[in-house]
Amino acid sequence: MSTILESDTRPLIPQDIAKIVITPKSYADDDIIYPAFKWLRENMPLGVAEVEGYDPIWVVTKHADIKAIELNAKLFHNADHNPILNDRASDEFMKQINGGTTRLLSSLTYMDPPEHAAYRNLTQSWFMPNRVSKLEEKIRTLARNSVDTLLSFDGECDFVRDFALHYPLRVIMTLFGVPPEDEPRMLKLTQEFFGVHDPEEQRPEMVADPVAAGKQWAATLEEFFEYFDGLSAQRRANPSDDMLSLIANSQVNGAPIPRDEANGYYVAIATAGHDTTSSSTAGGLHGMLLYPDNFAKLKADPSLVKGLVDEAIRWTSPVKHFMRNATEDTVVRGQTIRAMDRLMISYPSGNRDEEVFSDPTRFDITRSPNPHIAFGFGPHMCLGQHLAKLEMRVLFEELLPHIESIELAGDPRLVETNFVGGYKSLPVRFKKR
Ligand code: HEM
Repeated sequence: MSTILESDTRPLIPQDIAKIVITPKSYADDDIIYPAFKWLRENMPLGVAEVEGYDPIWVVTKHADIKAIELNAKLFHNADHNPILNDRASDEFMKQINGGTTRLLSSLTYMDPPEHAAYRNLTQSWFMPNRVSKLEEKIRTLARNSVDTLLSFDGECDFVRDFALHYPLRVIMTLFGVPPEDEPRMLKLTQEFFGVHDPEEQRPEMVADPVAAGKQWAATLEEFFEYFDGLSAQRRANPSDDMLSLIANSQVNGAPIPRDEANGYYVAIATAGHDTTSSSTAGGLHGMLLYPDNFAKLKADPSLVKGLVDEAIRWTSPVKHFMRNATEDTVVRGQTIRAMDRLMISYPSGNRDEEVFSDPTRFDITRSPNPHIAFGFGPHMCLGQHLAKLEMRVLFEELLPHIESIELAGDPRLVETNFVGGYKSLPVRFKKR
């Protein structure tokens, strides 16, 4: 990002607020992070956060600005810098080990036009609603098995650890073609990948290392790549109808896709495909427990389960940000953004924007319309959104009729991350029907 000049009139976010929205730890406490975003929306909807150790960045907190910026993928690039906010030392470390670029992963989020469309088109039709809806019966069977496991806990369990973490993992790995015995390894690697800042998710050798985030990222990716190299070779030799085979045998510009791009795809789907969905599922239950009138509404009208899914995703917003880079000088909300400035798109803030959502903190499954942006917007909008919504709907449909009553049995805990995360633990006590 260009340095801030003395004559600069850009609004500087007060240090206490800037630290909150940049620091991973704040995202583990809704009572800290959401008031900070509210302050920004009301007082400095587009301001610059300058926090020691990080590049100065614009923090985009309004729903309308997020949509406008995401729609214009030529003016706001993903890949000119790291599309994920990291401390400067970690970014430098990644550049050192990776030929001067932070692109350690050649996945869709690290691509801009025209490369992005060429790679997205390889799987886009697979993820379309008409295609995904054909998977409903298969997914319902997995949901039923998962609900049976939960019910076997006889009254008390951790809704995240004992239940929500495993079902989306099982769904995506089944469709992907990863054998069930490798699922724990995929879960561990995903948690390390997204939880680089959370002491409980850090590899022991990384704790207290000043470039822990960069190092853990690199180490996790190396392990993912090693694993997927083997599966990729297998599927090239013996293709089947799973997603791994589709990607392994894809071509771009008339040639098989290179190793890095194939691995980028596998890692994106293997990581983005479950952590987000399990957090949103846990958030859906937590929201209903805090606002219990929703249970009665759902009982009276089971078709409201679709509203429950949308509201769970809005209210949880498991993806906390993606970064964009301005490619030329431009003006947004009256502020001059300069070429190469970095912007942090804040989905949790956009999803609590009072101009779009009335009483946004309330969890309300009858909210309609619910134009949330938890899946992003524009050309990078979540590839797996229809699958995620189908998975969650089917799970709640299978689960809720078996529950007579349910209540919190302890404090929920959230992951310390400014990137992707959500519930680490949600202790509940329930009675079966
Ligand atoms: C509730 C669950 C989910 C949420 C909230 C979510 C959220 C997001 C967000 C915010 C983005 C970035 C969008 C942007 O830059 O505009 C994204 C991208 C992506 N998501 Fe999801 N996601 C979810 C589930 C899934 C699932 C189930 C899959 C795959 C099976 C998936 C695969 C992807 C991929 C591949 C991208 C990159 C798309 C691109 O850059 O073109 N996601 N997701």
